[in-house]
Amino acid sequence: MNPSDKPRAPRNRTLTLSASAQETLARQLLREPLPAGVAALTGRIICGDFIGLLPQLPRAFVDLLILDPPYNLTKRFGAESFCERTLAEYEEWFEDWFVRVLPLLKPTASLYVCGDWKSSAAVHRVLDRRVLVRNRITWEREKGRGAKSNWKNASEDIWFATVSNDYCFNVEAVKLKRRVIAPYRENGQPKDWEDGPDGQFRLTHPSNLWTDLTVPFWSMPENTDHPTQKPEKLIAKLLLASSREGDFVLDPFLGSGTTAAVASKLKRRFLGIEIDEKFACLAARRVELAQDNPSIQGYASGVFWERNTLNLQPKSAVPADTEELQLALGETPQPYRASKAKTK
Ligand SMILES: C[S@@+](CC[C@H](N)C(=O)[O-])C[C@H]1O[C@@H](n2cnc3c(N)ncnc32)[C@H](O)[C@@H]1O
Repeated sequence: MNPSDKPRAPRNRTLTLSASAQETLARQLLREPLPAGVAALTGRIICGDFIGLLPQLPRAFVDLLILDPPYNLTKRFGAESFCERTLAEYEEWFEDWFVRVLPLLKPTASLYVCGDWKSSAAVHRVLDRRVLVRNRITWEREKGRGAKSNWKNASEDIWFATVSNDYCFNVEAVKLKRRVIAPYRENGQPKDWEDGPDGQFRLTHPSNLWTDLTVPFWSMPENTDHPTQKPEKLIAKLLLASSREGDFVLDPFLGSGTTAAVASKLKRRFLGIEIDEKFACLAARRVELAQDNPSIQGYASGVFWERNTLNLQPKSAVPADTEELQLALGETPQPYRASKAKTK
């Protein structure tokens, strides 16, 4: 059965498209042959195979590249599927198109590449040969199937690299709001933390270990039926750290459109490419919805909130049924009591 045909729980918020909505959205997608020039591609979603489209794209126009390619697993993505291969073959496949994407980047561009443990070593080797690798972020995915004879796989990597040593990194834009465990005071005043109406918090520098994320699931409005959808909060961190308002973000494996929706919410220009028409239409719908609702779950008042703080976050950062979400996240439901915090 197609996942979108499954009966849904009444409070399931998964974004789906009727046949007529899909038909309308499909007409808005760009297809081959592509129009010339950056302006004609700005804020658009192309339905097609990005590898074949590469020669038609402008040179040196991208400030930030987000790559979330199929991992080295056998997996179906709508009408397309990817077959697991040896690590050496995956590396060859990845490098073959990666070198052809590089001319699209500005000399000051940054890039992030997602991968699981099975793909990560190959991704690192290719990046190390072609660009400047700066870090490996590991994020805890939480959701994952338990295994009887192996460790449950519950983490993924995101490699951070730049084209040159001239690049932007806005650390102030990606600080994490954490509860203070040892509230140290100096002369009676909080030292490097805030004693606010919602409790005692500290703004901390973000590390390369991310534990404040959850994969999208049915009670979250950003959820779709895409099998490997990334959380908006994760993509928001990448965009805020490594681009400025108005910068150009390219995602050639757009999937359900997370990068496009977040770019639109954070006022970045974007171009997304997705081979599967149904996913490309979902992406287009998410961009439309982003115009009316630019909130990003877990990000508000210019900061990212750690887990277990849903009841304290400004309303715009949490869904209406906060308690349900707290339960699904394995948190203890707390009554909602955010006070004066402003929304960004
Ligand atoms: C890992 S998923 C990306 C998920 C995405 N980050 C999201 O949040 O929804 C990879 C996507 O790339 C698409 N894809 C695979 N090969 C492609 C190609 N050659 N050109 C364009 N899209 C492709 C797949 O259909 C799939 O939706």
